[in-house]
Amino acid sequence: MNITFLGHAGFLVEANGLKFLFDPFLTGNPVAVNQPEEISTDYILVSHGHDDHLGDTVAIAKNNEATAIGVFELCNFLARQKVKTHPMHIGGRYNFGKFSVKLTPAWHGSSYGDGPVEYLGNPCGFLLTVGGKTLYHTGDTGLFYDMKLIAELDPVDLLLLPIGGNFTMDVKDALKAVELIKPRHVIPMHYNTWPVISVDAGDFKEKASKLGAEIHLLNPGEMIVL
Ligand code: NI
Ligand code: MN
Repeated sequence: MNITFLGHAGFLVEANGLKFLFDPFLTGNPVAVNQPEEISTDYILVSHGHDDHLGDTVAIAKNNEATAIGVFELCNFLARQKVKTHPMHIGGRYNFGKFSVKLTPAWHGSSYGDGPVEYLGNPCGFLLTVGGKTLYHTGDTGLFYDMKLIAELDPVDLLLLPIGGNFTMDVKDALKAVELIKPRHVIPMHYNTWPVISVDAGDFKEKASKLGAEIHLLNPGEMIVL
């Protein structure tokens, strides 16, 4: 499994001959190094409607004839823009053949637009199981105890976890999440994109490493192989 960090909550995952793009916020992202036009993908997993997650989904989906996966309401919004979708909802799992996806809860919002706001359903996280490994992208969320239950049912090889605070859990709560989920590997996300979510990621790495997980601090554009 190859995992490339695209900045903020965006990742490109290549596994089992398929490409999965998470929360592709590239245009307007002050830390991104990739352009939407250069991204190739088969699926786009969108955690919620906020600009810093929905991002370039429509353009990238159309360039690639990719299928967007998300909650029903967000998929309806994308389908109106002629994007191919696979609508799901919280707690639901679907076996796509070469991989499976389960949607997890996330404590957050999912509005779209800053004028008349449209609500795009519940925000979510994703459990992606592919090539014998399970990845948990929590989406934007605060800490919740059911993360323990989620990981008991599907042991997590790689956890993609926000640490930036203000809009999501911060370093202190993210450490508790690592304790509850017990992942093998963690890539922190949703920090240092803007001053309001700036944190000391080295501090997170040092403390989280003591919990038995391997912590990977990636710069936008960097890739790891698991
Ligand atoms: Ni958000
Ligand atoms: Mn966000």
